[in-house]
This record gives sequence, C-alpha cells and structure tokens, in this order.
Amino acid sequence: MTIRKIATVGNPVLRQVARPVTPDELRAPETQAFIDDLIETMHDANGAGLAANQIYTPIRICAIEIKDNPRYPYKPNYPLTVLVNPEITKLTDETFGNVEGCLSVPNLRGEVQRCPIIRVKGQGRSGAPIDVEVRGLTAGTFQHEIDHLDGKLFLDRVTDPRTLATWTDFERFHQAAFVERARAIVARFGS
Ligand code: NI
Repeated sequence: MTIRKIATVGNPVLRQVARPVTPDELRAPETQAFIDDLIETMHDANGAGLAANQIYTPIRICAIEIKDNPRYPYKPNYPLTVLVNPEITKLTDETFGNVEGCLSVPNLRGEVQRCPIIRVKGQGRSGAPIDVEVRGLTAGTFQHEIDHLDGKLFLDRVTDPRTLATWTDFERFHQAAFVERARAIVARFGS
C-alpha cells in the first residue's frame, strides 16, 4: 500500500467529472490496489472520506470512514465504506447547515446546506450492490464525497462566505456553537 499525494484546490483534476468504473475494471488487481491506497491515504490524513479525484485519479470511487475522527470530533462513527459508482437520491427537501472542511482545501472550513436524509446506491469494492439510507451529519459526509466525483468542492456550495474560517479560528470562535447544532442534528436524525 502507498500513501498518495492529495491534490489541492486549483488542481484541474478536482474539477473533472470522474468516469464510471466497469465491473471488469473493478475486479482488476490494479483497481483493488488503488482502493487500498485510497483508504491508506484517507487514514494517514485523518480524513472522514476521500474521493479518487483527490489522489489524481478521476474514477467514480470514494471511501468514507469515521472513527473517533480528530478533525471532526462531533461526528458519529461510521464503518469503513467504499462506494463505487454511487448515486444519491434526496429523501426530503429539508436541509441543514453543515460546517465542512476538505483535505483538498487546506485550513479552511465553511457552512454548506446538505440534505439530512438520503439514499445511496452503488457497489462496494467487491462489486456487491450497496443500497443504504444515510442520515444526519453522515449524510453530509456522503454528499461531500460524492460531490468530489462530480468535480465539485464544498467551496462551491458555501452560500455565505462569512462562514469561512481557518481551522484555528473555527475552533476559537465557532466550534462551540456548531457542536451544539451538530448534537441537535444527531439527536434528530440518529447520526
Ligand atoms: Ni473533500
């Protein structure tokens, strides 16, 4: 396994719409090794998720795992999930304000609106179908990662630029209030 370099904002690879992965391609040892690298790189950087474009490979694969994440201590844990060719359906018109950061946007956070109840369909790394309902803050994480596969960054969805903050200033001035809101979201949606 190899820890890969992570592309940062401004790199055109982050703006490419990633292409679907065929079943044959998914089974290939090179793709399976790539998925190992994606997971390893996510773990190394303490990411809650990582999309293939972020390691310079615009194919429709992303990984998500939340395990006592030091970057997002208020996020409920979610087991390691590899999504191949994921598709999202929003199950409500409601939105919630989620303060997001991104390994490809160093030292910046900002508030975006996310749907709190979604259905995600796709395949796992073995090709087995995935069909899950995802709620609350975790739904925000899934939408962030799948946005990457469409060439979108959370920055594109920040409606009020005044919510942008460095990580230090977020912790200093905004985290306490956001953690209260995050707890309310978790209490309401179960995650
Ligand atoms: Ni990101």
